[in-house]
Amino acid sequence: MKILITGGAGFIGSNLAKRLVNDGHEVVVLDNLLRGNKLDKATFDQIKFIQGDVRDYETVKKASRGCDLIFHFAAVLGVDVVADNPVETMDVEVIGTRNVVIAAEANNVKKIMYASTSGIYGHSAIENALTEEVLVDPRTSYAMAKRYNEIYLASHNEEKGMDVVSLRFFNVYGENQDNRMVIPRFFEQAIAGRDITVFGTGKQTRDFTFIDDTVEACVRLMSVKGCHIINIANEAEWCIEDVAVRIKDITKSNSKIVYLDAPKKRYDYEVERRVGSSEKLMQLTGFKPETTLDAGLEKIFKTNY
Ligand SMILES: NC(=O)c1ccc[n+]([C@@H]2O[C@H](COP(=O)([O-])OP(=O)(O)OC[C@H]3O[C@@H](n4cnc5c(N)ncnc54)[C@H](O)[C@@H]3O)[C@@H](O)[C@H]2O)c1
Repeated sequence: MKILITGGAGFIGSNLAKRLVNDGHEVVVLDNLLRGNKLDKATFDQIKFIQGDVRDYETVKKASRGCDLIFHFAAVLGVDVVADNPVETMDVEVIGTRNVVIAAEANNVKKIMYASTSGIYGHSAIENALTEEVLVDPRTSYAMAKRYNEIYLASHNEEKGMDVVSLRFFNVYGENQDNRMVIPRFFEQAIAGRDITVFGTGKQTRDFTFIDDTVEACVRLMSVKGCHIINIANEAEWCIEDVAVRIKDITKSNSKIVYLDAPKKRYDYEVERRVGSSEKLMQLTGFKPETTLDAGLEKIFKTNY
């Protein structure tokens, strides 16, 4: 297949590009390099790279010409980055996604797979792991825009028959991730012997999904037809404090774990519990993420440090 990945120089996109190239696909990456380039040289040499912005329609149209599938991953993310740049965040989501959809129609691309987020569950009640049927509760500009795009894509399936998959990623982590996210930040602090800084009590929970599992889920979903919203979750609930302790142990660090009040701009992102169900993914593909957090953290330590 010929496949476009927007945001393909980023953390998830670069790992996906590597896998797709190895699987024999022709890959085009469109990225404005807002976050630098995470594609390794071997992958970079085998793809077509276009440096450009998804907010520019002609660029997206050109990039998607002749493609069978688009992974639309370009986004502004990271709690602090989004809180400081709400307009750019919304524009990249809303204008960028509209451009991708319209360009896909113009170029007769059959399917779009969009990176949504578990953030759209917000403070949704958790009795069991969150399923896709739970009433969502997006509170941040980022989560609102992701939810809007899920519905926008679904409407294109309904009216125009395009195959669309919205992937609700739950805290993806892995090698070569940058410190906008909590796990690389804890590693960096632990290895430098600085305080490991936890916001709030550290009792808040998240569900961490390893990058290899995330990529596998994306690849398996490439052949699924129709319109789907799908959790990509590890189904394991971890306290942030315990993640800090694990990373301190793995790195044999003398760092102290310290608890800070979250800055005001993070308030909307502070959710007490989050854990997802990957049952739907399992039903559709026969696969669900299974790498334990311990195994994933060990792998990062061995590869990155
Ligand atoms: N990492 C996670 O835990 C996570 C969780 C939920 C959802 N997601 C979603 O998955 C996708 C990929 O996330 P990631 O972790 O790889 O992030 P990332 O920041 O590493 O990658 C995003 C890429 O998009 C590019 N980009 C930003 N604005 C652009 C623009 N206007 N035009 C073209 N390219 C642009 C950036 O340069 C970057 O390379 C994003 O849509 C994100 O919202 C990620």
